[in-house]
Amino acid sequence: MIGAMKEIKSYVESNKERFLGELFDLIRIPSISALKDAREEIYRAAAYIRRCLLDAGADHAGVKETSGWPVVYGQRLVDDSLPTVLVYGHYDVQPAEPLDLWDSPPFEPEVRDGKIYARGADDDKGQMFMHVKAFELMNRTGTLGCNVKFMIEGEEEIGSPSLKQFCKENRELLKADVILISDTTMIAMDIPSITVGLRGLSYLEVEVTGPNRDLHSGIYGGAVGNPANLLAKMIASLTDENNRITIPGFYDDVLPVSDEERAEMAKAPFDLGDYKRALEIEDVVGEKGFSTSERTGIRPSLDVNGIWSGYTGEGAKTVLPSKAYAKISMRLVPDQDSKKIDKLFTEHFARIAPAGTKVKVRSLHGGQGYVTPTDFPAFRAASRAIKASLGKTPVPVRSGGSIPIVTDFEEILGIKSILMGFGLDSDAIHSPNENFPLVNFYKGIETIPLFYRFFVEEMK
Ligand code: BES
Ligand code: MN
Ligand code: MN
Repeated sequence: MIGAMKEIKSYVESNKERFLGELFDLIRIPSISALKDAREEIYRAAAYIRRCLLDAGADHAGVKETSGWPVVYGQRLVDDSLPTVLVYGHYDVQPAEPLDLWDSPPFEPEVRDGKIYARGADDDKGQMFMHVKAFELMNRTGTLGCNVKFMIEGEEEIGSPSLKQFCKENRELLKADVILISDTTMIAMDIPSITVGLRGLSYLEVEVTGPNRDLHSGIYGGAVGNPANLLAKMIASLTDENNRITIPGFYDDVLPVSDEERAEMAKAPFDLGDYKRALEIEDVVGEKGFSTSERTGIRPSLDVNGIWSGYTGEGAKTVLPSKAYAKISMRLVPDQDSKKIDKLFTEHFARIAPAGTKVKVRSLHGGQGYVTPTDFPAFRAASRAIKASLGKTPVPVRSGGSIPIVTDFEEILGIKSILMGFGLDSDAIHSPNENFPLVNFYKGIETIPLFYRFFVEEMK
Protein backbone atom coordinates (compact mmCIF):
# COMPACT_ATOMS: atom_id res chain seq x y z
CA MET A 1 0.00 0.00 0.00
CA ILE A 2 2.71 2.44 0.99
CA GLY A 3 4.45 1.91 -2.33
CA ALA A 4 1.23 2.42 -4.26
CA MET A 5 0.46 5.61 -2.34
CA LYS A 6 3.92 6.95 -3.07
CA GLU A 7 3.59 6.26 -6.77
CA ILE A 8 0.17 7.91 -6.89
CA LYS A 9 1.32 10.98 -4.99
CA SER A 10 4.41 11.40 -7.09
CA TYR A 11 2.45 11.14 -10.36
CA VAL A 12 -0.02 13.77 -9.16
CA GLU A 13 2.79 16.00 -7.88
CA SER A 14 4.66 15.96 -11.18
CA ASN A 15 1.53 16.61 -13.28
CA LYS A 16 -0.30 19.08 -11.05
CA GLU A 17 -0.04 22.13 -13.24
CA ARG A 18 -1.00 20.30 -16.41
CA PHE A 19 -4.06 18.75 -14.71
CA LEU A 20 -5.21 22.17 -13.61
CA GLY A 21 -4.61 23.71 -17.03
CA GLU A 22 -6.65 20.98 -18.70
CA LEU A 23 -9.51 21.45 -16.24
CA PHE A 24 -9.40 25.20 -16.87
CA ASP A 25 -9.79 24.62 -20.61
CA LEU A 26 -12.94 22.61 -19.92
CA ILE A 27 -14.31 25.19 -17.49
CA ARG A 28 -13.80 27.96 -20.07
CA ILE A 29 -16.46 26.34 -22.25
CA PRO A 30 -19.82 27.68 -20.98
CA SER A 31 -21.77 24.44 -21.43
CA ILE A 32 -25.00 25.64 -19.81
CA SER A 33 -27.55 22.92 -20.53
CA ALA A 34 -30.54 25.14 -19.76
CA LEU A 35 -29.81 27.41 -22.75
CA LYS A 36 -31.18 26.35 -26.11
CA ASP A 37 -28.45 28.30 -27.92
CA ALA A 38 -25.65 26.64 -26.03
CA ARG A 39 -25.43 23.96 -28.72
CA GLU A 40 -21.99 24.95 -29.94
CA GLU A 41 -20.53 25.12 -26.40
CA ILE A 42 -22.20 21.87 -25.35
CA TYR A 43 -20.69 20.01 -28.29
CA ARG A 44 -17.33 21.66 -27.72
CA ALA A 45 -17.31 20.49 -24.09
CA ALA A 46 -18.34 16.97 -25.11
CA ALA A 47 -15.64 16.79 -27.79
CA TYR A 48 -13.07 18.08 -25.30
CA ILE A 49 -13.88 15.35 -22.79
CA ARG A 50 -13.80 12.70 -25.49
CA ARG A 51 -10.30 13.90 -26.42
CA CYS A 52 -9.21 13.84 -22.77
CA LEU A 53 -10.46 10.28 -22.32
CA LEU A 54 -8.54 9.12 -25.39
CA ASP A 55 -5.40 10.95 -24.26
CA ALA A 56 -5.78 9.39 -20.81
CA GLY A 57 -5.71 5.92 -22.30
CA ALA A 58 -9.26 4.97 -23.28
CA ASP A 59 -9.33 2.41 -26.07
CA HIS A 60 -12.56 3.91 -27.33
CA ALA A 61 -14.37 7.20 -26.73
CA GLY A 62 -17.21 8.83 -28.58
CA VAL A 63 -19.76 11.60 -28.41
CA LYS A 64 -23.10 9.81 -28.53
CA GLU A 65 -26.22 11.55 -29.74
CA THR A 66 -29.39 11.43 -27.65
CA SER A 67 -32.73 13.17 -28.06
CA GLY A 68 -31.13 16.09 -26.18
CA TRP A 69 -27.54 17.05 -25.42
CA PRO A 70 -25.02 14.28 -26.14
CA VAL A 71 -23.40 11.78 -23.78
CA VAL A 72 -19.65 11.23 -23.81
CA TYR A 73 -18.92 7.54 -23.56
CA GLY A 74 -15.47 6.05 -23.21
CA GLN A 75 -13.97 2.81 -22.04
CA ARG A 76 -10.90 0.74 -21.45
CA LEU A 77 -11.61 -2.95 -21.23
CA VAL A 78 -8.71 -4.78 -19.67
CA ASP A 79 -10.06 -8.26 -19.04
CA ASP A 80 -13.53 -9.84 -19.09
CA SER A 81 -12.93 -11.65 -15.85
CA LEU A 82 -12.19 -8.46 -13.90
CA PRO A 83 -14.81 -6.17 -12.37
CA THR A 84 -16.05 -3.14 -14.29
CA VAL A 85 -16.47 0.36 -12.87
CA LEU A 86 -18.77 2.77 -14.70
CA VAL A 87 -17.93 6.40 -13.94
CA TYR A 88 -20.84 8.82 -14.22
CA GLY A 89 -20.54 12.58 -14.20
CA HIS A 90 -21.87 15.63 -16.01
CA TYR A 91 -20.19 18.25 -18.16
CA ASP A 92 -23.13 20.66 -18.16
CA VAL A 93 -23.37 23.49 -15.67
CA GLN A 94 -26.03 25.76 -14.18
CA PRO A 95 -26.44 29.28 -15.55
CA ALA A 96 -24.01 31.73 -13.92
CA GLU A 97 -26.51 34.51 -13.14
CA PRO A 98 -26.51 36.88 -11.29
CA LEU A 99 -23.27 37.84 -13.00
CA ASP A 100 -22.61 41.03 -11.01
CA LEU A 101 -22.20 39.02 -7.82
CA TRP A 102 -19.14 37.18 -9.10
CA ASP A 103 -15.74 38.47 -8.02
CA SER A 104 -14.20 37.08 -11.21
CA PRO A 105 -15.92 36.11 -14.48
CA PRO A 106 -17.62 32.70 -14.10
CA PHE A 107 -16.04 31.15 -17.18
CA GLU A 108 -12.56 32.54 -16.65
CA PRO A 109 -11.30 30.22 -13.91
CA GLU A 110 -8.75 31.59 -11.48
CA VAL A 111 -7.10 30.39 -8.30
CA ARG A 112 -7.48 32.57 -5.22
CA ASP A 113 -6.63 31.46 -1.68
CA GLY A 114 -6.03 27.92 -2.89
CA LYS A 115 -9.43 27.59 -4.53
CA ILE A 116 -10.52 27.42 -8.15
CA TYR A 117 -13.24 30.00 -8.76
CA ALA A 118 -15.57 29.37 -11.71
CA ARG A 119 -18.94 27.96 -12.69
CA GLY A 120 -18.43 24.20 -12.78
CA ALA A 121 -15.22 24.32 -10.70
CA ASP A 122 -16.85 21.77 -8.41
CA ASP A 123 -20.24 20.87 -9.97
CA ASP A 124 -19.37 18.82 -11.82
CA LYS A 125 -16.46 19.63 -14.11
CA GLY A 126 -13.87 19.71 -11.33
CA GLN A 127 -15.14 16.54 -9.69
CA MET A 128 -15.70 14.66 -12.94
CA PHE A 129 -12.27 15.64 -14.24
CA MET A 130 -10.61 14.05 -11.17
CA HIS A 131 -11.82 10.73 -12.60
CA VAL A 132 -10.35 11.41 -16.02
CA LYS A 133 -6.99 12.23 -14.45
CA ALA A 134 -7.09 9.27 -12.04
CA PHE A 135 -7.79 7.09 -15.07
CA GLU A 136 -4.77 8.60 -16.84
CA LEU A 137 -2.66 7.97 -13.75
CA MET A 138 -3.63 4.30 -13.57
CA ASN A 139 -3.02 3.82 -17.27
CA ARG A 140 0.38 5.54 -17.24
CA THR A 141 1.59 3.75 -14.14
CA GLY A 142 0.25 0.39 -15.30
CA THR A 143 -1.91 0.01 -12.20
CA LEU A 144 -5.39 -0.23 -13.69
CA GLY A 145 -6.72 -3.49 -12.27
CA CYS A 146 -10.21 -3.55 -13.76
CA ASN A 147 -12.36 -2.42 -16.66
CA VAL A 148 -13.45 1.19 -16.75
CA LYS A 149 -16.32 2.85 -18.58
CA PHE A 150 -17.21 6.54 -18.59
CA MET A 151 -20.65 8.02 -19.13
CA ILE A 152 -20.50 11.80 -18.89
CA GLU A 153 -23.80 13.49 -19.65
CA GLY A 154 -24.75 17.03 -20.63
CA GLU A 155 -28.23 17.31 -19.13
CA GLU A 156 -27.89 16.63 -15.40
CA GLU A 157 -28.68 20.21 -14.43
CA ILE A 158 -31.94 20.11 -16.40
CA GLY A 159 -33.10 16.80 -14.97
CA SER A 160 -31.42 14.32 -17.37
CA PRO A 161 -34.39 14.17 -19.78
CA SER A 162 -32.65 11.90 -22.33
CA LEU A 163 -30.43 9.73 -20.21
CA LYS A 164 -33.04 7.15 -19.23
CA GLN A 165 -33.66 6.38 -22.88
CA PHE A 166 -29.92 6.30 -23.53
CA CYS A 167 -29.53 3.72 -20.75
CA LYS A 168 -32.40 1.62 -22.12
CA GLU A 169 -30.80 1.60 -25.56
CA ASN A 170 -27.31 0.81 -24.26
CA ARG A 171 -27.83 -1.77 -21.52
CA GLU A 172 -25.09 -4.03 -22.87
CA LEU A 173 -22.57 -1.24 -23.40
CA LEU A 174 -23.13 0.08 -19.89
CA LYS A 175 -22.84 -3.26 -18.09
CA ALA A 176 -20.80 -2.76 -14.92
CA ASP A 177 -20.49 -3.84 -11.31
CA VAL A 178 -20.86 -0.39 -9.84
CA ILE A 179 -21.41 3.22 -10.87
CA LEU A 180 -18.85 5.57 -9.37
CA ILE A 181 -19.90 9.19 -8.98
CA SER A 182 -18.19 12.28 -7.60
CA ASP A 183 -20.95 14.89 -7.62
CA THR A 184 -21.69 15.31 -3.92
CA THR A 185 -20.01 16.77 -0.86
CA MET A 186 -18.00 15.79 2.21
CA ILE A 187 -18.48 17.33 5.65
CA ALA A 188 -14.87 18.56 5.57
CA MET A 189 -11.51 17.25 4.42
CA ASP A 190 -10.67 16.41 8.03
CA ILE A 191 -14.17 14.97 8.60
CA PRO A 192 -14.55 12.86 5.47
CA SER A 193 -17.97 11.45 4.66
CA ILE A 194 -19.66 9.33 2.04
CA THR A 195 -23.10 10.30 0.77
CA VAL A 196 -25.52 7.44 1.35
CA GLY A 197 -28.75 9.22 0.49
CA LEU A 198 -30.02 11.71 -2.05
CA ARG A 199 -33.38 13.41 -2.02
CA GLY A 200 -35.89 13.10 -4.81
CA LEU A 201 -37.39 16.11 -6.50
CA SER A 202 -40.60 17.55 -7.89
CA TYR A 203 -40.02 20.80 -9.71
CA LEU A 204 -43.03 22.75 -10.91
CA GLU A 205 -43.84 26.09 -12.42
CA VAL A 206 -47.10 27.79 -11.48
CA GLU A 207 -48.93 30.55 -13.28
CA VAL A 208 -51.75 32.54 -11.70
CA THR A 209 -53.85 34.71 -13.99
CA GLY A 210 -56.15 37.47 -12.81
CA PRO A 211 -57.53 40.13 -15.16
CA ASN A 212 -57.03 39.75 -18.91
CA ARG A 213 -54.39 42.52 -19.06
CA ASP A 214 -52.13 44.56 -16.81
CA LEU A 215 -54.19 47.27 -15.15
CA HIS A 216 -53.55 50.75 -13.76
CA SER A 217 -52.98 50.05 -10.07
CA GLY A 218 -54.86 53.22 -9.10
CA ILE A 219 -57.92 52.86 -11.28
CA TYR A 220 -58.36 49.19 -10.39
CA GLY A 221 -56.33 48.71 -7.21
CA GLY A 222 -58.41 47.34 -4.35
CA ALA A 223 -61.20 46.16 -6.62
CA VAL A 224 -59.57 43.41 -8.67
CA GLY A 225 -57.69 40.36 -7.37
CA ASN A 226 -53.98 40.94 -7.90
CA PRO A 227 -52.34 37.65 -8.97
CA ALA A 228 -49.02 38.66 -7.39
CA ASN A 229 -50.65 39.27 -4.00
CA LEU A 230 -52.71 36.11 -4.33
CA LEU A 231 -49.81 33.93 -5.40
CA ALA A 232 -47.84 35.13 -2.37
CA LYS A 233 -50.72 34.08 -0.11
CA MET A 234 -51.10 30.74 -1.83
CA ILE A 235 -47.41 30.01 -1.42
CA ALA A 236 -47.45 31.10 2.20
CA SER A 237 -50.27 28.66 2.86
CA LEU A 238 -48.23 25.72 1.58
CA THR A 239 -46.43 25.44 4.92
CA ASP A 240 -47.91 25.76 8.40
CA GLU A 241 -46.65 27.29 11.64
CA ASN A 242 -44.50 24.20 12.28
CA ASN A 243 -43.05 24.42 8.78
CA ARG A 244 -44.84 21.31 7.72
CA ILE A 245 -46.14 21.12 4.18
CA THR A 246 -49.92 21.45 4.06
CA ILE A 247 -50.66 19.62 0.81
CA PRO A 248 -53.06 16.81 1.77
CA GLY A 249 -51.39 13.41 1.44
CA PHE A 250 -47.91 14.94 1.06
CA TYR A 251 -46.41 12.97 3.97
CA ASP A 252 -48.30 9.72 3.32
CA ASP A 253 -45.34 7.85 1.87
CA VAL A 254 -42.53 9.46 3.86
CA LEU A 255 -40.62 6.54 5.28
CA PRO A 256 -40.19 7.06 9.01
CA VAL A 257 -36.63 6.80 10.27
CA SER A 258 -36.18 4.83 13.47
CA ASP A 259 -34.83 6.43 16.65
CA GLU A 260 -31.78 4.17 16.40
CA GLU A 261 -31.05 5.41 12.90
CA ARG A 262 -31.59 9.01 13.96
CA ALA A 263 -29.19 8.53 16.85
CA GLU A 264 -26.67 7.02 14.43
CA MET A 265 -27.08 9.98 12.04
CA ALA A 266 -26.67 12.46 14.88
CA LYS A 267 -23.15 11.16 15.40
CA ALA A 268 -22.00 12.81 12.16
CA PRO A 269 -20.25 16.01 13.26
CA PHE A 270 -22.31 19.13 12.69
CA ASP A 271 -21.89 22.56 14.22
CA LEU A 272 -24.99 24.73 14.04
CA GLY A 273 -23.03 27.83 15.05
CA ASP A 274 -20.59 27.41 12.16
CA TYR A 275 -23.48 26.70 9.83
CA LYS A 276 -25.26 29.93 10.74
CA ARG A 277 -22.07 31.97 10.65
CA ALA A 278 -21.19 30.66 7.18
CA LEU A 279 -24.58 31.80 5.89
CA GLU A 280 -24.75 34.96 8.02
CA ILE A 281 -28.17 34.05 9.36
CA GLU A 282 -29.27 34.47 12.94
CA ASP A 283 -31.32 31.33 13.03
CA VAL A 284 -32.33 28.35 10.98
CA VAL A 285 -35.89 27.61 9.91
CA GLY A 286 -37.34 24.18 9.31
CA GLU A 287 -39.76 21.48 10.29
CA LYS A 288 -40.47 21.36 14.00
CA GLY A 289 -39.07 18.34 15.80
CA PHE A 290 -36.10 17.73 13.50
CA SER A 291 -32.46 18.79 13.55
CA THR A 292 -30.87 20.68 10.67
CA SER A 293 -29.19 17.54 9.28
CA GLU A 294 -32.48 15.68 9.54
CA ARG A 295 -34.35 18.48 7.81
CA THR A 296 -32.15 18.11 4.75
CA GLY A 297 -31.34 14.41 5.03
CA ILE A 298 -34.51 12.56 5.92
CA ARG A 299 -37.35 15.07 5.65
CA PRO A 300 -38.95 16.62 2.56
CA SER A 301 -39.01 20.36 1.89
CA LEU A 302 -40.77 22.93 -0.30
CA ASP A 303 -39.12 26.06 -1.65
CA VAL A 304 -39.76 28.83 -4.11
CA ASN A 305 -36.79 28.90 -6.49
CA GLY A 306 -37.97 31.88 -8.49
CA ILE A 307 -40.92 34.24 -8.43
CA TRP A 308 -41.92 37.02 -10.80
CA SER A 309 -44.78 39.23 -11.79
CA GLY A 310 -45.57 42.78 -12.80
CA TYR A 311 -42.93 45.43 -13.25
CA THR A 312 -39.41 44.56 -12.08
CA GLY A 313 -37.40 47.03 -14.16
CA GLU A 314 -35.76 50.24 -13.04
CA GLY A 315 -37.81 52.77 -11.15
CA ALA A 316 -41.55 52.62 -10.60
CA LYS A 317 -44.42 51.70 -12.84
CA THR A 318 -47.89 51.61 -11.36
CA VAL A 319 -49.32 48.37 -12.56
CA LEU A 320 -51.59 45.64 -11.29
CA PRO A 321 -50.25 42.62 -13.15
CA SER A 322 -52.37 40.20 -15.11
CA LYS A 323 -50.16 37.23 -14.26
CA ALA A 324 -47.81 35.97 -11.56
CA TYR A 325 -45.43 33.04 -11.70
CA ALA A 326 -43.28 30.94 -9.43
CA LYS A 327 -40.94 28.00 -9.75
CA ILE A 328 -41.34 25.67 -6.82
CA SER A 329 -39.18 22.71 -5.85
CA MET A 330 -40.11 20.00 -3.42
CA ARG A 331 -37.28 17.79 -2.21
CA LEU A 332 -38.55 14.31 -1.51
CA VAL A 333 -37.39 11.42 0.61
CA PRO A 334 -37.88 7.67 0.33
CA ASP A 335 -40.59 6.42 -0.46
CA GLN A 336 -42.24 9.53 -1.87
CA ASP A 337 -43.01 9.30 -5.56
CA SER A 338 -42.25 12.37 -7.62
CA LYS A 339 -45.14 11.86 -10.08
CA LYS A 340 -47.60 11.37 -7.25
CA ILE A 341 -46.35 14.51 -5.50
CA ASP A 342 -46.70 16.47 -8.78
CA LYS A 343 -50.33 15.38 -8.89
CA LEU A 344 -51.04 16.16 -5.23
CA PHE A 345 -49.50 19.59 -5.62
CA THR A 346 -51.38 20.36 -8.84
CA GLU A 347 -54.74 19.37 -7.37
CA HIS A 348 -54.10 21.25 -4.16
CA PHE A 349 -52.96 24.38 -5.96
CA ALA A 350 -56.09 24.44 -8.10
CA ARG A 351 -58.21 23.99 -4.96
CA ILE A 352 -56.66 26.92 -3.12
CA ALA A 353 -56.89 29.30 -6.08
CA PRO A 354 -59.10 32.24 -5.01
CA ALA A 355 -62.25 32.92 -7.02
CA GLY A 356 -61.56 35.01 -10.09
CA THR A 357 -58.13 33.54 -10.77
CA LYS A 358 -57.02 30.78 -13.09
CA VAL A 359 -54.01 28.65 -12.26
CA LYS A 360 -51.79 26.49 -14.39
CA VAL A 361 -49.20 24.10 -13.00
CA ARG A 362 -46.52 22.62 -15.18
CA SER A 363 -44.02 19.98 -14.11
CA LEU A 364 -40.45 20.87 -15.15
CA HIS A 365 -38.64 17.79 -13.94
CA GLY A 366 -38.34 15.40 -11.07
CA GLY A 367 -37.11 12.09 -9.84
CA GLN A 368 -36.88 9.69 -6.96
CA GLY A 369 -34.67 9.78 -3.90
CA TYR A 370 -31.94 7.23 -3.35
CA VAL A 371 -30.35 5.41 -0.45
CA THR A 372 -27.17 3.38 -0.83
CA PRO A 373 -26.32 0.43 1.35
CA THR A 374 -23.27 0.72 3.60
CA ASP A 375 -22.42 -2.95 3.37
CA PHE A 376 -21.64 -3.52 -0.29
CA PRO A 377 -18.20 -3.84 -1.94
CA ALA A 378 -18.15 -0.32 -3.39
CA PHE A 379 -18.95 1.29 -0.05
CA ARG A 380 -16.24 -0.68 1.69
CA ALA A 381 -13.79 0.19 -1.10
CA ALA A 382 -14.65 3.91 -0.95
CA SER A 383 -14.36 3.86 2.81
CA ARG A 384 -10.94 2.21 2.72
CA ALA A 385 -9.73 4.52 -0.05
CA ILE A 386 -10.75 7.64 1.85
CA LYS A 387 -9.26 6.33 5.08
CA ALA A 388 -5.99 5.70 3.26
CA SER A 389 -5.83 9.10 1.56
CA LEU A 390 -7.44 11.40 4.12
CA GLY A 391 -6.48 9.54 7.26
CA LYS A 392 -9.94 9.04 8.73
CA THR A 393 -12.75 6.59 8.18
CA PRO A 394 -15.56 8.47 6.43
CA VAL A 395 -18.96 8.82 8.10
CA PRO A 396 -22.10 7.99 6.11
CA VAL A 397 -24.30 11.04 5.53
CA ARG A 398 -27.64 11.56 3.83
CA SER A 399 -27.44 14.58 1.56
CA GLY A 400 -30.22 17.01 0.78
CA GLY A 401 -29.33 17.33 -2.91
CA SER A 402 -30.64 15.28 -5.80
CA ILE A 403 -29.20 13.26 -8.66
CA PRO A 404 -32.45 11.67 -9.81
CA ILE A 405 -30.84 9.58 -12.54
CA VAL A 406 -29.12 7.44 -9.90
CA THR A 407 -32.41 5.70 -9.09
CA ASP A 408 -33.04 5.18 -12.80
CA PHE A 409 -29.60 3.58 -13.13
CA GLU A 410 -30.59 1.03 -10.56
CA GLU A 411 -33.97 0.41 -12.17
CA ILE A 412 -32.86 0.28 -15.80
CA LEU A 413 -29.32 -1.05 -15.54
CA GLY A 414 -29.61 -2.92 -12.25
CA ILE A 415 -26.42 -1.26 -10.98
CA LYS A 416 -25.93 0.46 -7.63
CA SER A 417 -24.06 3.73 -7.32
CA ILE A 418 -21.40 4.83 -4.87
CA LEU A 419 -21.36 8.56 -4.20
CA MET A 420 -17.75 9.42 -3.47
CA GLY A 421 -17.92 13.20 -3.63
CA PHE A 422 -15.10 15.60 -2.79
CA GLY A 423 -17.04 18.87 -2.78
CA LEU A 424 -17.75 20.99 0.28
CA ASP A 425 -20.92 22.86 1.22
CA SER A 426 -18.83 26.04 1.08
CA ASP A 427 -18.08 25.45 -2.63
CA ALA A 428 -21.18 27.52 -3.43
CA ILE A 429 -22.39 25.30 -6.25
CA HIS A 430 -25.18 26.89 -8.34
CA SER A 431 -24.27 30.24 -6.70
CA PRO A 432 -22.02 33.13 -7.66
CA ASN A 433 -18.35 32.47 -6.81
CA GLU A 434 -18.64 28.70 -7.10
CA ASN A 435 -15.29 27.29 -6.09
CA PHE A 436 -13.37 24.10 -5.52
CA PRO A 437 -10.31 23.91 -3.26
CA LEU A 438 -7.20 22.68 -5.05
CA VAL A 439 -6.56 20.23 -2.21
CA ASN A 440 -9.92 18.60 -2.84
CA PHE A 441 -9.20 18.33 -6.55
CA TYR A 442 -5.79 16.73 -6.02
CA LYS A 443 -6.85 14.56 -3.07
CA GLY A 444 -9.72 13.34 -5.20
CA ILE A 445 -7.33 12.30 -7.95
CA GLU A 446 -5.23 10.46 -5.37
CA THR A 447 -8.16 8.69 -3.74
CA ILE A 448 -9.81 7.35 -6.88
CA PRO A 449 -7.03 4.90 -7.88
CA LEU A 450 -7.17 3.53 -4.33
CA PHE A 451 -10.90 3.01 -4.73
CA TYR A 452 -10.28 0.91 -7.86
CA ARG A 453 -7.63 -1.12 -6.11
CA PHE A 454 -9.82 -1.85 -3.07
CA PHE A 455 -12.90 -2.43 -5.19
CA VAL A 456 -11.15 -5.21 -7.09
CA GLU A 457 -10.12 -6.73 -3.74
CA GLU A 458 -13.62 -6.44 -2.29
CA MET A 459 -15.12 -8.09 -5.35
CA LYS A 460 -12.92 -11.18 -5.05
N1 BES B 1 -24.27 17.76 -7.91
C1 BES B 1 -25.59 18.20 -7.69
C2 BES B 1 -26.32 17.40 -6.63
C3 BES B 1 -25.75 17.38 -5.26
C4 BES B 1 -24.92 18.38 -4.78
C5 BES B 1 -26.06 16.34 -4.42
C6 BES B 1 -24.40 18.33 -3.51
C7 BES B 1 -25.57 16.29 -3.15
C8 BES B 1 -24.73 17.29 -2.69
C9 BES B 1 -26.36 18.14 -8.99
O1 BES B 1 -25.62 18.67 -10.06
C10 BES B 1 -27.59 18.97 -8.89
O2 BES B 1 -27.46 20.15 -8.76
N2 BES B 1 -28.75 18.36 -8.98
C11 BES B 1 -29.98 19.08 -9.03
C12 BES B 1 -31.09 18.22 -9.52
C13 BES B 1 -31.41 18.35 -10.96
C14 BES B 1 -32.61 17.51 -11.32
C15 BES B 1 -31.55 19.75 -11.44
C16 BES B 1 -30.37 19.59 -7.67
O3 BES B 1 -30.13 18.92 -6.66
O4 BES B 1 -30.92 20.69 -7.63
MN1 MN C 1 -23.72 17.95 -10.12
MN1 MN D 1 -25.74 20.89 -9.90
